Amino acid sequence: MKILSFWPTEIFVFENYLPGKQHGKIKKLITKDAEYFTYAALDAKILDTAQLLLEHYDYKGSLKPEITEMWTNIRKTNQPHPPHVHANNDYSGIYYIDECTSTFFLDPRQQNLTTDLGFNQPVRKIRGEPNKCVIFPSWLMHWVPNNDQPTDRKTISFNIKYRGKIGKPGSFTEVQA
Ligand SMILES: [Fe+2]
Repeated sequence: MKILSFWPTEIFVFENYLPGKQHGKIKKLITKDAEYFTYAALDAKILDTAQLLLEHYDYKGSLKPEITEMWTNIRKTNQPHPPHVHANNDYSGIYYIDECTSTFFLDPRQQNLTTDLGFNQPVRKIRGEPNKCVIFPSWLMHWVPNNDQPTDRKTISFNIKYRGKIGKPGSFTEVQA
């Protein structure tokens, strides 16, 4: 059997993303919700990963990844994070601080549910675990239901945009991203 995955929606999951010491330091730095965040080791790791994604897709061009924003998220017990996408970016990610309520993702292909086969359920979830990083296409709808833990749910979100010239060289669709 030959399998052609023409339209996959790939979500990249990394366990133990940073050395434990750095994870511990980041954990202490998150004190407020919705604050811009930067931490050199995390920034560097994310940029490395963004480069790896290009290699994964066998991209041969000159685009270079940039972290356009990175910020803190704190949700109190029973507080949700409603469904959303991250506009104006290529990939987005979540870095989890503690064991916490899952992030839910919605299959963008409504037609996929024409027949319910069990395995094609439109909602998938990924549990938050300490030092885990999840990277997904920025257009993919996602949300967090009510924080089901007695403690604050702390994560760091970030956006990645690939900068440079995109499109067929010399064509009308070649643009600067
Ligand atoms: Fe998000």
